[in-house]
Formats: sequence, C-alpha cells, structure tokens
Amino acid sequence: MMNYTDDNLSLTIQELSNTYEELSLLYRISGIFSVLSVDEICARIVAEAVNTIGVQTSAVLFLDEKKKKLCTKTFTGNWDKDIEFGEDITVLWKPFEANRPSAFCKLRETEYSTIFPDLKSLMICPIKGKVKVIGAIVIADKDSDEEFYSNDSKLLMAICTQAGLAIENAFLYSELETLLLGAISSLVRALEASSHWTAGHTERVTEYAVSIGHVMELEKDLMERLKITSLLHDIGKIATPKEILNKNGKLDEDEWFEIKKHPSMGADILRELKQFEDIILSIKYHHEYWDGSRGIFGLRMDEIPLMARILAVADTFDALTSDRPYRLKRSKKEAITEIVRCSGTQFDPAVVESFLKWVELFNLQR
Ligand SMILES: [Fe+2]
Repeated sequence: MMNYTDDNLSLTIQELSNTYEELSLLYRISGIFSVLSVDEICARIVAEAVNTIGVQTSAVLFLDEKKKKLCTKTFTGNWDKDIEFGEDITVLWKPFEANRPSAFCKLRETEYSTIFPDLKSLMICPIKGKVKVIGAIVIADKDSDEEFYSNDSKLLMAICTQAGLAIENAFLYSELETLLLGAISSLVRALEASSHWTAGHTERVTEYAVSIGHVMELEKDLMERLKITSLLHDIGKIATPKEILNKNGKLDEDEWFEIKKHPSMGADILRELKQFEDIILSIKYHHEYWDGSRGIFGLRMDEIPLMARILAVADTFDALTSDRPYRLKRSKKEAITEIVRCSGTQFDPAVVESFLKWVELFNLQR
C-alpha cells in the first residue's frame, strides 16, 4: 500500500481538481461552440478565459494575412481595440513558433511596457484550426494578482484548441451558406425570368420586408434572417407548372390549388438546411391569415412566425402594385388602403402599423 504524506496528498488533490477543471471546461466549450457564429464564438472565448482562468483582461486577435498583423476581434477589460500588432512585436508572435502559450509576468519591467501600459502580466496562446492559423488569445492580469502558472497555460491551450476548430468550422459553414444562398438566389432569378408576371418580385418584396423590419427595430441577426427569408420565400414556385405561372388570364380553382402548394414546396426544398429552421417555417407560413380565417394551414396570430407576418404584408404590397394576368396593378395609395383594410384579419396589426410608418417615412402614398 502506498503512503502519501500530507503534501503529496494535497498535491494529488490539486492535480485532480485541475484535471477536472480542464475536462469540464472542454465539455462546456465543445458543445456550445458547435452551434455559434464566429462573433458569438469569440465572445464566448473571451468570457470563458475570464471566468475559468480568472483574469481581468482577455482579447481574441485575428491574423490579417495580407497586413501580416494581429488585429483585435473581441475583448474585455483593459484593451485598446484599435491596436494592431506587426511582426516587430515579438512578444505576441513568439508563441506561434513554439506552438504553445507564452507568459510574461513582469511586463512593466520590459520593453513592452509602452505597448501595454495598463497591463502587469500577460499570457498569449495561438489559435490554430486544422487548416491554418486563425489568430491568438491574450489574457492579462489575474484577479488574484498572482503570476500565471502552468495550469493556466493548460487551460488556455484547451480553450484555444476548441476555439480553433469551432472558428474554422463556422468560417467554412458561412462560406457554404453564402455559396448555397447564391445558388438558390440564382434559381429564384431564373424562375422569375421565365415568367414576366413575377419579374423583380423577390427583390422588391425583400426591400419592403427589410424596411418594415427596420421600423420594427428588429435585431441585426433577425434582420439578416428576414432578408434570407424574403429572398427565398417563393422558391417553392420552382415546382409550380410553368403554364400556370405564365397563364395570361384568370386562374381556375385547380390552378389556384397548385399555386397554393408553393409555401410547402419551398419548405420542402430547403428542409436539409438545419440552421434554416426559422427561415423554413416562415416561408411555409407566409400566406397565413392573422385571424386564422383563410390561410393554407389555419395558423393564427402568434402561431405564425413574425418573419412570415412581415413577409405577408410586403408580398401583398408588391402583388397589388404589380400587373397580374387577371388584373391591372393598383396605385400605391390604393394598395396601402387595402392593406389597412385587412389589418387584423389578413395581417398582423403591429406589422401594418410599422408598414404605415415606413410608407410615411418615404412618402410612398402616391
Ligand atoms: Fe408566396
């Protein structure tokens, strides 16, 4: 049987508790990073470093390959957000060669005191993905005023390893998303080009929906989603027979039945895009009625996603002010009157109110 002295025992407990801390940190960050955008991941990295290692300052720097400089992406604490670090600031570049964190404990006694006048001690670790170097994380000034220990270095390295993979994935994902959106938008444009009745519809609906969203002061992220929803809202018409879309005359009941399938078809076409769940639902329900009376699925009020309710007003405004095979376009004034008339039945009154504010703002009544 092994005999531990008290010192050995407390050392072992300390090591175990460090390992536990490291493991639980890894568990925490590997899960949350996988579903976030680059900006969100960086904000989490900074928060994790501050909370887990217990520092007052933390910053994520991205490598600008063209400028060959490290530039601040996100930070908290005593940090100058506009500062950029060229290769002459060797203190920040050293860890890239060594591929591990470097600590500088008495900054004020070094040549770097003018670069970091507000910091006493600093640790930096490179953030690398599988493919390339992304940047670095800097932490500075422990809450306890202590020096940085090897356990801090291990924890920072664990954060950087997970962050590197997560940021690289998020970049790849957003590139894919842009590619995909480009391809789908081209499809929508091709669809519109094949029917002169709908030429430019998507672009105008997007402009109207985004304008209403601005008046409603939607958050930046939701505005971005609303734009994508608007661009894709009629994608399901790809599956509508061309002779119906191009028909020069009134549609009969069967033809309307076909047209009414397009929200479901659109949702179906996009169903594999797991990150588009809210967008897909908004496309599916963009022809619902606020009072639930005549929609395709019979949803009502808040059951209809907000983006779909905005889209309904924008879509109708464009439809009314465009020529259709079975009727001539109405003036903007007439279209506005019609939308106001249908507030509370077809449309969400709050959306109509914002629509009217936008109309007033840009003097569109004529
Ligand atoms: Fe539609």
